[in-house]
Amino acid sequence: MQKCSNTSKECEQLFNSIFKIAINVVSAQDVKQYLSERKKLSDAENAIKDGAVIHLTPAEQSANAIFTAILQYEELLLSNNDPSGINFFNAKEVIESTQIYSILKKLPKGSILHVHQDSSATYDYLIDVGTYLPNCYIYMGSDPENGLAYGDYHFFASQPSDTNWVQISQVRQSVSNVTAFDDMLLTNMTLLGRDNGDYVNLWRKFDAIFARVSGLMTYVPITIGYMQHLINQSIEDNIQHIEVRKCFSDYYDLQGNTYNDTWFTQQMIQLIQQNRITFDMPELSLKIIGCDGRHSNQSVVYDHMEYALELRNQYPGIYIGYDLVGPEDEGYPLIYFIDQFMDIMQKGDDKDYPLDFYFHAGETLLYNNTNLYDAILLNSKRIGHGIQLSKHPILMQMVKDNDIGIEVCPISNQVLEYVDNFRAHPAFDLFNQGLPVTISPDDPAIFGYYGLTYDFYEVVTAWGLDISGVKQLALNSLAQSAYYNDTERDLALTSWITKWNTFIDYVNTLTPPSN
Ligand SMILES: *[C@@H]1O[C@H](CO)[C@@H](O)[C@H](O)[C@H]1NC(C)=O
Ligand SMILES: *[C@@H]1O[C@H](CO)[C@@H](O)[C@H](O)[C@H]1NC(C)=O
Ligand SMILES: *[C@@H]1O[C@H](CO)[C@@H](O)[C@H](O)[C@H]1NC(C)=O
Ligand SMILES: *[C@@H]1O[C@H](CO)[C@@H](O)[C@H](O)[C@H]1NC(C)=O
Ligand SMILES: *[C@@H]1O[C@H](CO)[C@@H](O)[C@H](O)[C@H]1NC(C)=O
Ligand SMILES: *[C@@H]1O[C@H](CO)[C@@H](O)[C@H](O)[C@H]1NC(C)=O
Ligand SMILES: *[C@@H]1O[C@H](CO)[C@@H](O)[C@H](O)[C@H]1NC(C)=O
Ligand SMILES: [Zn+2]
Repeated sequence: MQKCSNTSKECEQLFNSIFKIAINVVSAQDVKQYLSERKKLSDAENAIKDGAVIHLTPAEQSANAIFTAILQYEELLLSNNDPSGINFFNAKEVIESTQIYSILKKLPKGSILHVHQDSSATYDYLIDVGTYLPNCYIYMGSDPENGLAYGDYHFFASQPSDTNWVQISQVRQSVSNVTAFDDMLLTNMTLLGRDNGDYVNLWRKFDAIFARVSGLMTYVPITIGYMQHLINQSIEDNIQHIEVRKCFSDYYDLQGNTYNDTWFTQQMIQLIQQNRITFDMPELSLKIIGCDGRHSNQSVVYDHMEYALELRNQYPGIYIGYDLVGPEDEGYPLIYFIDQFMDIMQKGDDKDYPLDFYFHAGETLLYNNTNLYDAILLNSKRIGHGIQLSKHPILMQMVKDNDIGIEVCPISNQVLEYVDNFRAHPAFDLFNQGLPVTISPDDPAIFGYYGLTYDFYEVVTAWGLDISGVKQLALNSLAQSAYYNDTERDLALTSWITKWNTFIDYVNTLTPPSN
């Protein structure tokens, strides 16, 4: 089969030449000639898609045979209960029961490129550790005027005058079953197992959870522990590099001190250094992308971008860029901030490191969304979601030519009601066109999971990916990671290759299903 590299013009030429041959098939003389033309056509398409440039070693080929046999066997087995079209919350247990899931759990998945820091690691840490720290209060009233809601948390040195704040240790003394109570607190921090209503309702619940967790998350003794929890869970899921969207916020302690994102960044530098030693993983890395909600006004966005540019230049090894987050259909479009973006780009010209953008764009079903145009014209390093990208032929070409990574978040897209069935996910089109598709979890804690295995499961099964496709997804994530320098990049790749070879050896020990 002819191959072409997906960054060159070769593919297009190959495609064009074969496409013309296929048209000639109308005048084909016999079935044999027809079938030969037909094969050329499918080969030409297969030569373009992600994974086409990967030449499997003999060990990979035999692993591939086992992997695809299991994949096809389980597809038949689950056919009446195909997880692709079932809401993730209802499919989760079925997924966990499959062998493909347990294989993908062991897959070295490379990098998580799109995850929101405050919904990254599971919230059991916040409940089991956080709410058991002294001085933890829960709000048992409702005061929308002060922005407080029933079930919000905060730490205070002593009882606040608003007696709706109750020490959670007192509440625990009054309940009959503490385990059930703690389970309830955790369930109330996820969208799991509830009727979440329509799209607008969902986003409101989503926002309410972020508000609820923030009083715990920004309490200094918890902040670092939660990030440690993220590192632990990522390593456990065979991920070696994490880039978090981290919106600007202050952190607090009981003495009334506040800390800002300079502090957070410094803490993360230390945390990663410690963990490289603890886990004997010199390749472990964490990067921070600053962000604001897209409903923020222009002056907030400008001030925070200035701060982000400063952090980018103070800590270039960890602080990499800026983004706007939140529902695209409700907040300001990117074009609203064009003056601020232009100013900050100009400011960046005088610095060692300009402020790179990593914009969410095209996470919508509305035809009038224009964010993809701006994300690409503003030289966004990657694009978050890009659900609408397959509707834009010229933008797709620009993404390909400029190697702009697409951060596809399959489960998030389904839970937030942008895509029903993973088999119809528009990113499958991007994958087949050889665009740099990567897979990410977005807000796994709120969706009740951690890591990347579930998202991989959904696309691998719904798109019928073989070992080449899976390898390409992991390699794309490494290629699209914001490494500080070539040393870091080379280390990441060589460590990953070692893990990949171990993975292939493991798959080769598996027995394929017998029928
Ligand atoms: C948790 O959610 C349930 C159901 O929505 C609600 O009845 C309960 O009051 C909530 N509790 C807390 C502490 O948030
Ligand atoms: C307490 O709640 C947990 C979780 O719901 C349940 O498994 C357990 O049986 C309950 N214990 C008692 C004594 O009811
Ligand atoms: C992370 O893992 C280390 C090593 O297994 C363990 O000692 C530590 O308690 C874990 N921390 C968290 C927050 O899960
Ligand atoms: C962040 O906190 C540090 C230490 O308190 C302070 O020096 C710095 O000015 C603060 N930066 C911003 C942008 O708030
Ligand atoms: C922008 O938003 C901030 C924070 O909400 C607020 O303090 C400020 O007054 C707003 N500025 C303008 C010009 O609206
Ligand atoms: C797109 O259309 C919706 C209504 O369908 C409207 O609310 C929104 O403001 C429009 N967005 C833009 C960027 O024009
Ligand atoms: C590359 O970055 C690492 C930190 O990740 C640093 O230790 C090393 O000195 C850097 N190498 C060069 C050549 O700049
Ligand atoms: Zn996101």
